[in-house]
Amino acid sequence: MQSLQLSIHSPGPLRARRAAHHPPRAVMSPTRRAVRPVTHSMPPEKVEVFKSLEGWAERAVLPHLKPVENCWQPSDFVPDPSGPSGSFEDEVRALRARAAGLPDEYWVVLVGDMVTEEALPTYQTMINTLDGVRDETGSASNPWAIWTRAWTAEENRHGDLLGRYLYLSGRVDMRMVERTIQYLIGSGMEPGTENNPYLGFVYTSFQERATAVSHGNTARLAKGHGDPILARICGSIAADEKRHEAAYQAIVGKLLEVDPDGAILAIENMMRKGITMPAHLMQDGRGPGLFDKFSAVAQKLGVYTGRDYVDIVEYLVGRWGLENIEGLSGAGQRAQDFVCGLPSRLRRMQERADDKAQRAEPQSMRISWIFDRELTI
Ligand SMILES: [Fe+2]
Ligand SMILES: [Fe+2]
Repeated sequence: MQSLQLSIHSPGPLRARRAAHHPPRAVMSPTRRAVRPVTHSMPPEKVEVFKSLEGWAERAVLPHLKPVENCWQPSDFVPDPSGPSGSFEDEVRALRARAAGLPDEYWVVLVGDMVTEEALPTYQTMINTLDGVRDETGSASNPWAIWTRAWTAEENRHGDLLGRYLYLSGRVDMRMVERTIQYLIGSGMEPGTENNPYLGFVYTSFQERATAVSHGNTARLAKGHGDPILARICGSIAADEKRHEAAYQAIVGKLLEVDPDGAILAIENMMRKGITMPAHLMQDGRGPGLFDKFSAVAQKLGVYTGRDYVDIVEYLVGRWGLENIEGLSGAGQRAQDFVCGLPSRLRRMQERADDKAQRAEPQSMRISWIFDRELTI
């Protein structure tokens, strides 16, 4: 889910144009922070919108969760340490034999995905920064809070499962991986959502789809490299992400229905900023650039690319029927024009970036997660 070359990494025309509207946000390095982020940008009276949608959320959002008893658990996919004598060791040996066929680049991407998932405390915190939908008590009974807790509980299985698989594979430097997770949770994230649930749910609508794409691609590659169980692991995680994206996109769809101007302006706002990746502040304590390296490898393997970013924008424009929304204010119409024209503009930028990348010299890098073995990208 990882590289956002179009919106974050490349100083393209969109970036220049965006800068005219928003000061550039400090998303490049773990050590830099946006100076004065916007906070609480939703007008206070709009809290009522979310209050009035509670009945709807119960009927239309909560059903996207799966009952716990029907959910897979990490134990379903990894060797069972309580099995008959010797079976655990045999299963671990088989896992490691399958894992032997996966190249270093693949491990980098799988670790990056796992680290991203493991920073879940940050994402639950982020959702609980949102005015009008936050879980005020930690066990609040309104459907927004119920969703957030149960969503977190489903997500919690993702990093757990990937982490167990990575540990048993013996292919990665677990200590450096764990250190990266600790740094990342300590750093947080800068999604630019301004305590504003309109912005927050646009962000999660995009982001859950991005993770579904990314895990879907690591599943496909695992299968190609002869590890069907890892393919099932990544595919099962991707299926959860798909349920989650459906829920978040339903929320934004409903906002477009009850407050079309507010919702289209929120979509425009997030699209102008660009969707930052949740783990963009990652580091391993050995100098800058870890996230960029991870992004470059994900791009090279086709796990998450600039093209995927454009595809997601295009998908959301269609999913929400943005071209057909009527009765917007002048500002709303301008936002609509901007957002609906964005996929083709991003597509052109992406083609230019791809051309440039094809002409670029291969670069070598080392990443601590794979014991600093050299990679050429
Ligand atoms: Fe996840
Ligand atoms: Fe997710």
